[in-house]
Amino acid sequence: MLSMQLKIYKDYQSLSEAAANEIVSLIKHKPAAVLCLASGDTPRLTCKLFATKAKQENLDLSQITFIGLDEWVNIPPDNEGSCHYFFQHEIFEPLQFSPGQVHLFDALSTDLNNECRKMDGLIFDKGGIDLMIVGIGMNGHIGFNEPGVSFDNYSHVAELDNTTTSVGQKYFKAAMTLQQGITLGLKHLQEAKKVLLIANAAKKAEVIQKTVEGDVTPSFPASIMQQHNNGYVMADEEAAGLLTAKNK
Ligand code: GLP
Repeated sequence: MLSMQLKIYKDYQSLSEAAANEIVSLIKHKPAAVLCLASGDTPRLTCKLFATKAKQENLDLSQITFIGLDEWVNIPPDNEGSCHYFFQHEIFEPLQFSPGQVHLFDALSTDLNNECRKMDGLIFDKGGIDLMIVGIGMNGHIGFNEPGVSFDNYSHVAELDNTTTSVGQKYFKAAMTLQQGITLGLKHLQEAKKVLLIANAAKKAEVIQKTVEGDVTPSFPASIMQQHNNGYVMADEEAAGLLTAKNK
């Protein structure tokens, strides 16, 4: 029996509304929450809706700790394809987060291992991640936890596989050499108090089917979601299109 739960939404809008509402209700319940978000196309609307709702409801965000899931190694923060740029424009600027409350990997660091240990230490010191919202790559990755990764890894530097380097071009204005990523590990995901994996559109139907119904295996990293007892796979109808009826 799966411990993870599956939630299917009519479309991208309603999926994103639900994910944004999760962030809002967490912050209302726990103003000093530790929040970890992925960047990418999927969470973009979630972030926009969260920013709108937070302003409308005048939420106090001053105690939030914000953690970025991952970053492309060697891509500067002012490059529009970087995760830094995404969060800066979707969350930090609109909601006036202070620099002290945001923690993103410095992917230009000459000591990336130290970046990883700093991130792990921060998460530990804060008492763990309250809510993690992740996407899924076309090879089943979460963050830059690529196929074959250990489920026991905390933050680490990953060699990117061919799917990631080619699909990743979509974030950049010009062709980009992408070789490595720095990322939270799947141990962080397993230890997070709540995890939402969000996916929309028909192109994600195959990876969602494997995530929910495939074997739990490091060769398909997102399958780890099946073992999270407060984990939710949230898909729109198109992304859920290949699931068998029993799961719908
Ligand atoms: C990227 C990132 C992930 C992201 C995933 C899906 O490569 N490393 O953190 O969740 O791929 O991205 P998208 O939402 O654009 O499909």
